[in-house]
Amino acid sequence: MLRTHTCGELRRAQAGQTVILAGWVHSYREQGRELVFVDLRDRYGKTQVVFNTDEDTRIDALARRLRREDVIRVEGEVRYRGDGMTNAKLSTGEIEVRVHQLTLLSRSKTPPFEIEGGELPNEELRLKHRFLDLRRPELQRNIQLRHDLTQAVRSYFNDLNFLEIETPMLGRSTPEGARDYLVPSRVHHGSFYALPQSPQIYKQILMVSGFDRYYQIARCFRDEDLRADRQPEFTQIDVEMSFVQRDDILATIDGLVSTVMKKVRNIDVPTPLPRYTYHDVMARFGSDKPDMRFGMEITDITDIALASEFSVFRGVAGSGGFIRGLTVKNGAEKYSRRLLDVDLKNFVGDYGAKGLAYMKVAGGRLESSIAKFFSDEQQQTIISRMGGADGDLLLFVADTWKVTCSALAALRNRIGREQQLYDPQSFSCLWVVDFPLLTWNPEEGRFDAEHHPFCQPNPDDAEYLKTDPGKVRADSYDLVVNGYEAASGSVRIHDSEIQQMVFDLLKINSEEAERRFGFLLEALRFGAPPHAGIALGLDRWVMLLAGNDNIREVIAFPKTQKAADMLTGAPSEVDDRQLRDLRIAVTEQEK
Ligand code: AMO
Ligand code: AMP
Repeated sequence: MLRTHTCGELRRAQAGQTVILAGWVHSYREQGRELVFVDLRDRYGKTQVVFNTDEDTRIDALARRLRREDVIRVEGEVRYRGDGMTNAKLSTGEIEVRVHQLTLLSRSKTPPFEIEGGELPNEELRLKHRFLDLRRPELQRNIQLRHDLTQAVRSYFNDLNFLEIETPMLGRSTPEGARDYLVPSRVHHGSFYALPQSPQIYKQILMVSGFDRYYQIARCFRDEDLRADRQPEFTQIDVEMSFVQRDDILATIDGLVSTVMKKVRNIDVPTPLPRYTYHDVMARFGSDKPDMRFGMEITDITDIALASEFSVFRGVAGSGGFIRGLTVKNGAEKYSRRLLDVDLKNFVGDYGAKGLAYMKVAGGRLESSIAKFFSDEQQQTIISRMGGADGDLLLFVADTWKVTCSALAALRNRIGREQQLYDPQSFSCLWVVDFPLLTWNPEEGRFDAEHHPFCQPNPDDAEYLKTDPGKVRADSYDLVVNGYEAASGSVRIHDSEIQQMVFDLLKINSEEAERRFGFLLEALRFGAPPHAGIALGLDRWVMLLAGNDNIREVIAFPKTQKAADMLTGAPSEVDDRQLRDLRIAVTEQEK
């Protein structure tokens, strides 16, 4: 080894020992003619090393040429800094190392940004120099956290007799519904592999094969629009079990969540995690991934609006729409007219709302340009139903169910954050169950699978499968953490006839079903056990546990919003020869 200790290790107890350290020059400082101080850094911490250039002219020449991020090796004596001289900011702050031998292992060009301190440079620059960016203590911590979490997950499942099984990267298109990344085959001209959007079909086949408890830390690929919590290439904790029902999966994942949170962050998560139905959370929060760290639930006043004189509300209510609102406690003073009429109105406009009506509660009555359209009695009903008190602000959107949901959910999240209605360090984990099996796709004139085509319809709703498919609930579940979808899964169809019926509803004809999923249907005909599963977004979990809201901060080599790898320059053009081998032609225009 080139070193005897790491840069985070030495304490007063080692004073007097001769040690060897190696690492990066984090900071450099000269004091007078004779002293040079360097903070030497590695993954474990920093140690102050001191060169007495008076004593040794060779060291003098070298030490005075050191620059940030040079890699050096020093041999020296550990010295206690003395009472009252401790640097509380460093774990090694009690000591310093008096160097008597210095080796320059590697020079560094001047880094384009500071590793620590200073302003964070723009993300493109950071990603281009990711090798430097990853030296930052915050990213080092995130990568460590990711490792800890992954290991805790493995150990949890291993203890429960799960097998970790890998499934192919080069496979057939899977059914998650995003666009596939395709890989052309050289051998089979004109044919393509699809990188997996998830191991969904393979894990179901593993159940048919008898591996009744499976998990995998699985890479998934989806060519979709990226957001702060989405990457084109990401990692799932993928799970499948046989001879189980919904509650067995939920209990297994409750155990995973509480064990892992305790182990990696010492957070106590009481289990069982609370469960809400899809219908319930949509009515109360407007979202299937509600952030329940704070209240501020949605209130429906459609009935009052219908009886009022306010034509906008009455019109919407009369044509089957909804008038729903939020109560911002003590919000009357905080939101100016401008903020309401411009900022917040445009904000809900992004979610399809045509306006934002507001009223303030003052002196036990409503105050607003539209208050006159409501009778005294109606005003009192609105105030009491919305839990209003003097000083509160009431906000309303009148629109379809869908638009009121998405606009008010977004508004609720924004106001919750703005008004600091919750402790950002806290966690709220919950299950949402009973999603609809299908959603109507008006453009295509057919139903789409809400999750994927293999979800088991809720047996209680079997009668609706033929009569009113939109009403059928799926035996599916999402795990929601702080307003993020952290995991998603379902009980699967293990009966090829029911599977066929669902394909029919999705207007996937038998030829297409056979072509896309024939191998799964065939497997289901050979003795398929009842099975169910789930997948947790590993990157999102790490992001949440790291207290971050950007998924790229917990991935060593992430892609930009435009799915580019700034470090390597991927995607890139390839040699003509490679294209010839694949018999692929790129048209000039696209090049
Ligand atoms: P789903 O498509 O809901 O389910 O994905 C499961 C979980 O993976 C995470 N996730 C993502 N994370 C980062 N970037 C992305 N682009 C991304 N897409 C999804 C989310 C999500 O909850 N096969 C099913 C699971 C099953 O039924 O077992 C599936 O993939 O946290
Ligand atoms: P108007 O009569 O269109 O000037 O609207 C009066 C108030 O009602 C304004 O504050 C609008 O923003 C609001 N408003 C208009 N349409 C809607 C709607 N669909 N939902 C909620 N508020 C609305």
